[in-house]
Amino acid sequence: MSDPRRRVVVTGRIPVDGIDMLEAEHDVWAWDSSDPISRDELLQRVAGADAIVALLTERIDGELLDAAGPQLRVVANVAVGYNNIDVPACRERGVIATNTPGVLTDATADIAMALILMSTRRLQEGERVIRSGQPWQWGMFYMLGTAIQGRRLGIVGMGQIGAALARRAKAFGMTIAYSNRRAIADDLAAELACVRMDLDEMLATSDVVSLHCPYSPETHHLIGAVELAAMRSSAYLINTARGPVVDEAALANALANGQIAGAGLDVFENEPTVHPQLLELDNVVLIPHLGSATVETRTAMATLAAANVLAVLRGEPAPTPIST
Ligand code: 8YV
Repeated sequence: MSDPRRRVVVTGRIPVDGIDMLEAEHDVWAWDSSDPISRDELLQRVAGADAIVALLTERIDGELLDAAGPQLRVVANVAVGYNNIDVPACRERGVIATNTPGVLTDATADIAMALILMSTRRLQEGERVIRSGQPWQWGMFYMLGTAIQGRRLGIVGMGQIGAALARRAKAFGMTIAYSNRRAIADDLAAELACVRMDLDEMLATSDVVSLHCPYSPETHHLIGAVELAAMRSSAYLINTARGPVVDEAALANALANGQIAGAGLDVFENEPTVHPQLLELDNVVLIPHLGSATVETRTAMATLAAANVLAVLRGEPAPTPIST
């Protein structure tokens, strides 16, 4: 009888709960460094793998799938975004691709709300003043921000994370608009008291615009110079989706020229590099891709990815397959 234990390659460090689940049934090799694995090493390591557990820092394309070999059954991304995976290339080779929706919804919506509050209340500026030892004093007109109550939040991409942010923003007194390929269900629209708009109208009428769409060729530079020019000069842009959804150079210009009031960014076009002009600006909050970065959420992501691998290798349906 052939050995039921299969070879699972994990392309980076993930929480131990996920590794334990995999090791209970299979032989696991995991890259054990906080630096990303090199492409060459990854191409060698995947040879003979039946399953690959991937992080967003690794590109899973036809070349890599072929380097793994025809026995490969599943690629489980430890992320909800899957722009690092060539899903059609997986499909062509009969490989099931999975992601981790649901388990990081609250963590990412929390970060988006935090960025809204930080940028509108200038918390990053205040922090820098104190840490740099600059003199400061309470003053009636010192470092005034903008109130969000009664202001419109425009959500680009009303999926689970967009809706979770809408709930938070509504609790803070904001009104909600959204642009999405499809209208959301009536009961959700009623709960969020939100209106659907086309992107142009939403950009022109929102006080805060928050991005929650997937990254794809269609959403590359969705927000560029033209869209930034269409926004209010008092408006803020929040990005917790993927960096290249925004033309970072155009955003830096818009922030420097006062075309928009501010921005809060968790993701960047060429991570971990940040556009140098952004680093010079006070009116942008910059945080290093922390959307899902809680112990609880990362553990849930790892165990969901492991559950996807185990299901496919047992011949069962994957809990969260990517369906495009
Ligand atoms: C991180 C994310 O990419 O899930 C996503 O799409 O952007 C974040 O959760 C993930 O934690 C890193 O693999």
